[in-house]
Amino acid sequence: MKSYQIVKPDTRQTRQMLEAFPRAAELEPALQTALVTAWVSVLASSTFERIVDVPFSYGSGTSLVDHTNDVTEAGLALMSVAAERWGWQVNRQTLLAVLLLHDLDKPLLMEMREGNDLQTPVAARIPHGVLGALLLAELGLGEAIVAAVATHATNAPVRGPDPEIMILHYADLFAADSALLKTARLPFFRRCG
Ligand SMILES: [Fe+2]
Ligand SMILES: [Fe+2]
Repeated sequence: MKSYQIVKPDTRQTRQMLEAFPRAAELEPALQTALVTAWVSVLASSTFERIVDVPFSYGSGTSLVDHTNDVTEAGLALMSVAAERWGWQVNRQTLLAVLLLHDLDKPLLMEMREGNDLQTPVAARIPHGVLGALLLAELGLGEAIVAAVATHATNAPVRGPDPEIMILHYADLFAADSALLKTARLPFFRRCG
C-alpha cells in the first residue's frame, strides 16, 4: 500500500497552507493548486495534526514550515544574484515550486510517538526526496520540478544541471545549517573531507 493518498483540499485547508507558505501566493494558479494539494495530502497521510507541528528534522526545534520558508527566501535572493551578476536565465515559477516543495515528503518520513519524532517504515525504503517527487508526478507536475525534488538530498546519486537545482541546493544547505547551528549536530559547512 502507498504511504500517501491524494486529498482534494477544502477551503480551510487551502487557507492554512497558503498562510504557512506565503510565497505560494506568487505561483501561477495551476502550480499553486498542486502545491496546496501536495502539502494537504502528505499532512493528511501523516501522524501530524497541523503542518506547523512537523519538525525540520528528527529532534529539531526548527519547524519544517520555517525551514521551507527560509529556503524559499534564500533561494530567491540567490536567484537575484545569479540573474543580475551572471546573467542566468532562471525560471522563477519552477524555482519557487522546488523551493516550496523540496521537503514535501518529510511529514511521511517522521512520526510522533510518545513525544519523539521517529523514522517511519517508508523512510527506510525510499530515499528522502523521492516520495515527494512521486506524489508531484502523480499530480501532473513537469519533470524539471519532479527531478529537482527527487535529487535534492545531499546523498542523492545524481543531480541535474538546471540552475533551479543549483540554487535549491545552496539555499537548502544554508537554511539547514542555520537550524543545525542551534543543535549539537555538525552543520554541513563544517563537514570536511
Ligand atoms: Fe531535504
Ligand atoms: Fe530542506
